[in-house]
Amino acid sequence: MTGLNATVEIAVIGGSGLYALLDDAEEYAVDTPYGSPSDPITVATVAGRRVAFLPRHGRDHRFPPHRIPYRANLWALRALGASQVIAPCAVGGLRPELGAGSFVVPDQLIDRTSGRPQTFYDEGAVHVNFANPYCPVGRRTAIERARARGIEITDGGTMVVVEGPRFSTRAESRWYASIGGTIINMTGHPEAVLARELALCYTAVALVTDLDAGVEGEDGVTQEEVFRVFGENTERMRGLLLDVVGALPTDGDCSCRHALDGLDLP
Ligand code: ADE
Repeated sequence: MTGLNATVEIAVIGGSGLYALLDDAEEYAVDTPYGSPSDPITVATVAGRRVAFLPRHGRDHRFPPHRIPYRANLWALRALGASQVIAPCAVGGLRPELGAGSFVVPDQLIDRTSGRPQTFYDEGAVHVNFANPYCPVGRRTAIERARARGIEITDGGTMVVVEGPRFSTRAESRWYASIGGTIINMTGHPEAVLARELALCYTAVALVTDLDAGVEGEDGVTQEEVFRVFGENTERMRGLLLDVVGALPTDGDCSCRHALDGLDLP
């Protein structure tokens, strides 16, 4: 189905291993000034809320992290009406206590990507505030719902986003930990800043699939490990996401929505 009358409130961008979320969904093929998003977007009603789901890598995982059409993805979700984005993702742990299967809701981000288009504003002077990259309301909701479901979850932490697609060397990994990194992945940026540039609320919900090379003792991280551990935890993540969607406030007027206030948009 095409057309933009989906009146979505909340969007979920699924990461590695989470290629579908919604039952009985309608499908929307959305075109944007930045091309097509990673996949057609599915929309359904969950707990009375209109929810969109987009698999970040495409449902067949055809887009590696550095080739994901991040701008098209965020643009398309906003075009469908979404004002809040929940972004589950697989991450490596940069701290020994964050073993595989741990959940983290980061509150900070360090961008180590390079060469990815990371703005909608290639003209004019539009500089958004990004001091706190994640939505405070979405973060609080995710943490509360996880704890209510008996999921141990770390409140806060700094996500280091690397260019990939390779994993880090031990030296890089130790350095990321030494500069304050808590978890590491390849897709958390520019997704977060593009959401901010559209004044969308954006909340990352990270599942640790491995200990990164600097903390891991033997051979370093493997792709097999990342996919296997995410697969083992997909149902926990899926249950949490559907719960969060139902619990997000409907009237949320948080700072994210005012990201463009007072800026001179072209
Ligand atoms: N995604 C999952 N684990 C990762 C790691 N160790 N490094 C980068 N991205 C990841």
